[in-house]
Amino acid sequence: MTTAPVRPPAGALPALRPMRWWDVADVAALEAELFGPTAWSAETFWSELAAPGRAYWVARDDEGGLLGYAGAAAAGGDADVQTVATAPAARGRGLGDALLTACEDHATALGAGALLLEVEAGNAPALRLYHRHGFVQVARRRDYYGPGSDALVLRRRPPGGPPPADGPGGPGTTGRPRTTGTTGTTATTDDPDGAPTP
Ligand SMILES: CC(C)(COP(=O)(O)OP(=O)(O)OC[C@H]1O[C@@H](n2cnc3c(N)ncnc32)[C@H](O)[C@@H]1OP(=O)(O)O)[C@@H](O)C(=O)NCCC(=O)NCCS
Repeated sequence: MTTAPVRPPAGALPALRPMRWWDVADVAALEAELFGPTAWSAETFWSELAAPGRAYWVARDDEGGLLGYAGAAAAGGDADVQTVATAPAARGRGLGDALLTACEDHATALGAGALLLEVEAGNAPALRLYHRHGFVQVARRRDYYGPGSDALVLRRRPPGGPPPADGPGGPGTTGRPRTTGTTGTTATTDDPDGAPTP
C-alpha cells in the first residue's frame, strides 16, 4: 500500500493522504449519500484496506470534513480504479482529477498494465474526468446498474506501454462491482478502443 501522502498539483486543493481505519465511518457515510443502494458498506472498505495491492486515499478540509476519497487495486497485471468520489460541495476544483491521478500512480508503481474502471453510462462528470485522463470505452454492460442503466468499462493503457496482449475490448474483471443486478446481464463489447462515449 502506498504510504506517502500525495499532494495535488493545484494550490487550493487539499493534500491527499492514505485512508486509515478511522476514516472509514466518514467514507461510508459519504459513499451512502452518493451511491444509495449500490454503496459499499463500511465492512467492504475495511476489507479493501486489508487486501493486498490496494491503495486508498482521502482528502479532508481544514476542519476535518471529508472532501473525497478514491482507491485502486493492482497486483502486477491489470489494475482497477475501485472508486473515485468527491463531496458535492468540493466538486469542479480538480479534486477528482487528483484522486484519479493517485490511482494511476499506484498502478504504475506496482507495475500494472492497463487500468480499468466501470462507470454508469449517464455519469457525465465522471466520464469527462476519465476521458481527459485517456480512458476509452472497451465494453458496455447493459442494465448493469438496473433496467436502463448501463455500465461502461473504460480502459487506460500505461503511457508508452506496449499494446495489450488480450486484444481490443477484452477486459476481464474491473473495479468495484457497484451493482444491484448483475445476474443475467450481458457484457457486450462495443466500440473497442474507439472514440470515447460522451
Ligand atoms: C466524478 C467526480 C469524482 C468528479 O469529481 P470532481 O472533484 O468534480 O473532479 P474535477 O474537479 O477534477 O472535475 C472533473 C470533471 O467533471 C466536470 N464536472 C463537474 N461537475 C459537472 C457537472 N455537473 N456536469 C458535467 N461535468 C461536470 C468538470 O468540469 C471536470 O471536467 P473537465 O475537466 O473536462 O472540465 C464527482 O463528480 C463525483 O464524486 N461524482 C459522484 C461519484 C461518482 O460518480 N464517482 C465515479 C464513479 S465511476
